[in-house]
Amino acid sequence: MESNQNINLEDIKSTKLELTRFMMYYKFALAELNTKIDILKQEFQYVHDYNPIEHIKSRLKTPESILKKVRRKGYEFSLPSIKENIRDIAGIRITCSFITDIYKLSEMLQTQSDIKVIECKDYIKKPKPNGYKSLHLILQVPIFMSDRVEEIYVEVQIRTIAMDFWASLEHKIYYKYDKDIPGRLKSELKEAADAIYQLDKKMENIHIQTNQIKEKIDYNDVTQEIFINNERFYLPYEFLTQYLDSEKKSSS
Ligand code: GTP
Ligand code: MG
Repeated sequence: MESNQNINLEDIKSTKLELTRFMMYYKFALAELNTKIDILKQEFQYVHDYNPIEHIKSRLKTPESILKKVRRKGYEFSLPSIKENIRDIAGIRITCSFITDIYKLSEMLQTQSDIKVIECKDYIKKPKPNGYKSLHLILQVPIFMSDRVEEIYVEVQIRTIAMDFWASLEHKIYYKYDKDIPGRLKSELKEAADAIYQLDKKMENIHIQTNQIKEKIDYNDVTQEIFINNERFYLPYEFLTQYLDSEKKSSS
């Protein structure tokens, strides 16, 4: 479909300007969503004393792969059609430590009042036949410009570190074999995906048990210290129990 027809230089300039403006919406959408995710991350860290997010990566689809996808899917080639049909021009991938974090995070994003949830594909509950697991959200976020508001689609993929490891390896193999993975490798990949799921569950279990121990230690910390003018003093446990005993006696 390459053509050598002479295009007017002015047309090229104005098309580039229009396309740049179009792509900027997606850049803004990524910035907006990244801020939202970062706020959730910091707040979660503060409230729950641990970080549910391991890593965040965002990317803009290149004009080249937008063109490829439009052709592959047979969409009309116009900016309104691209805007409506290609919903992964802005993409964010979040890796979490544990499966429950994926759902917590997804819920926190979905309930934000300015975010519209267009689609939620749960490939964790229902993995792809090859074993692929991930939670995919198609969201729409409003971008406030000087003279109008644009609703922009963003694809968010949330998965565990282990699932991410699997997906990047599978992706490499898929392209190495030009999308036709030999049967033996396919079944090994599927086995690896299942093993990864078991590992994710095991790690989460260990994490839950560690948290329970930590709660006990925290309890000791709280009961065994006292702050006087910001200075920390050790408070023997007997001090508390004897004091509480004497209080009880005097009140009865
Ligand atoms: P696209 O048209 O390619 O965007 O796919 P779709 O509309 O069917 O959406 P889906 O949610 O299935 O996939 C979207 C994205 O998830 C892909 O572009 C990949 O980044 C990722 N993905 C989906 N399936 C697989 C898979 O089997 N392996 C790997 N490695 N990534 C996948
Ligand atoms: Mg895609």
